[in-house]
Amino acid sequence: MEADTQTILSWRIEDIDLSQIVRLRAAVNEDLLLLLCAASFIESGSDLYTSNLSAFFESDPEVFGWLNQHWENEELQHGRALKAYINNVWPDFDWGLGFKNFLDEYSKICSLEAFEKTWALEMVARCVVETGTATLYRAINEYSDEPVLKTITDNIRNDEVRHYKYFLKFFKKYNQIEGNSRFSVLSALIRRAMEIKNEDSEIALRHVFLVRYPAQVYNKTYMREKIARVNKLMRTHISIDMCVKMLLKPLDLPSNIQTVLQYPLVKIARHIFFR
Ligand SMILES: [Fe+2]
Ligand SMILES: [Fe+2]
Repeated sequence: MEADTQTILSWRIEDIDLSQIVRLRAAVNEDLLLLLCAASFIESGSDLYTSNLSAFFESDPEVFGWLNQHWENEELQHGRALKAYINNVWPDFDWGLGFKNFLDEYSKICSLEAFEKTWALEMVARCVVETGTATLYRAINEYSDEPVLKTITDNIRNDEVRHYKYFLKFFKKYNQIEGNSRFSVLSALIRRAMEIKNEDSEIALRHVFLVRYPAQVYNKTYMREKIARVNKLMRTHISIDMCVKMLLKPLDLPSNIQTVLQYPLVKIARHIFFR
């Protein structure tokens, strides 16, 4: 199993020399590490929802095969890579405990995950998720001045962009058959974008805090303020232009309309995600 995984991954965390981490530079940015650790929890829980997603597309061998052979292994490696980085910078942090607690809560939400009504619309939802991760890792990559983290997040960002392209390709394939209206596609886009904002990262961040700051477990104000600070950190660095461009692609708008819509949509997105 391990040998198979090695042959299909486009990069391997084992090939990155973690001893080159500039620890002082990494450790000084506590908020970024909190965010990375939360991301490591979400990525490491990928197999939980991959099985649901795979089952949804089981009758299409192309999609089913790609999800199981590539996508899931790549997402899990993102989790391993970020975990390895955190372990190096925070050697006393009990990652396993935080992840276990996170999974206990997150698995309940995942098992209830509602898929979109059709295959094409579910692919739209997946495009939204990959847009979120691609823009997040690009932001971290540009924000960080620690060279090993730059390498890791550059690799992850490339994977996420590739995932987006695959899901977009699958969306086009299914939408040719289903012929969903632009309104249906837009509804799916908005629905999933709103969900991203609310759920996963907040649960993950809370479980990072509970292990990192055990003395503050009952201090809800402290937690709330910390979560707000970490969220703000990346909101100010994420490229809204890139985000909107990627989100608009499934709508397949004529280029003149896309150009006209781009500016007001960037403003709307900034208002929704960055308030
Ligand atoms: Fe990922
Ligand atoms: Fe991804």
